[in-house]
Amino acid sequence: MIKYVIVLVAGAIAGGFAGNTIAHRLAEPHQHPRAVMTLLGFHRERLDAASQAGQCATVETERARITSLQQEIALAFPKAYKEEADFHKYADALGSVLQSVNAANAPAPATAMAPANAMISAAAMAPAAAAPSCPEAAAQFKKISDACEDCHKVYDPE
Ligand code: HEC
Repeated sequence: MIKYVIVLVAGAIAGGFAGNTIAHRLAEPHQHPRAVMTLLGFHRERLDAASQAGQCATVETERARITSLQQEIALAFPKAYKEEADFHKYADALGSVLQSVNAANAPAPATAMAPANAMISAAAMAPAAAAPSCPEAAAQFKKISDACEDCHKVYDPE
């Protein structure tokens, strides 16, 4: 009787280990890509909401987060990025869209460095806080989101 118990316990322990190892092996290579995409999804929703609400500061923050995460796509999908021409193209295309949107929203050229100019730009920012000054945000959001979907159409997330 005790023999059976020992065998059962040993089996359960071994099974538990085997199960863990397999689950771990399957899950681990997938964790980073999913993490990057999950975060992109999270920030896309926030960008969408902020764009519609005209919350320009949040729009900017969320766009910066997405820009940083876009740069992580190549790290998260190294094989696809290297070997799949289309994947590479869509990842870069999202990067280009973000670059042009970010450039379109960049504050006045940073060549103006004198304190006097700093004052001017601070003054120029003040009215922006009162009335939303990012009328392009919704259209720009759509461009970004479309670039996500261009890739998803081919490399379906589901
Ligand atoms: C170059 C291709 C590519 C681009 C660009 C891309 N994705 Fe993805 N996305 C994928 C792939 C591939 C998956 C499937 C990931 C997996 O499960 O391994 C995915 C999955 C997802 C998921 C589901 C994550 C999960 O597992 O639940 C979300 C959400 C997502 N992407 C959001 C975005 C958003 C938002 C953008 C744009 C800002 C974007 N993606 C841009 C390729 C891309």
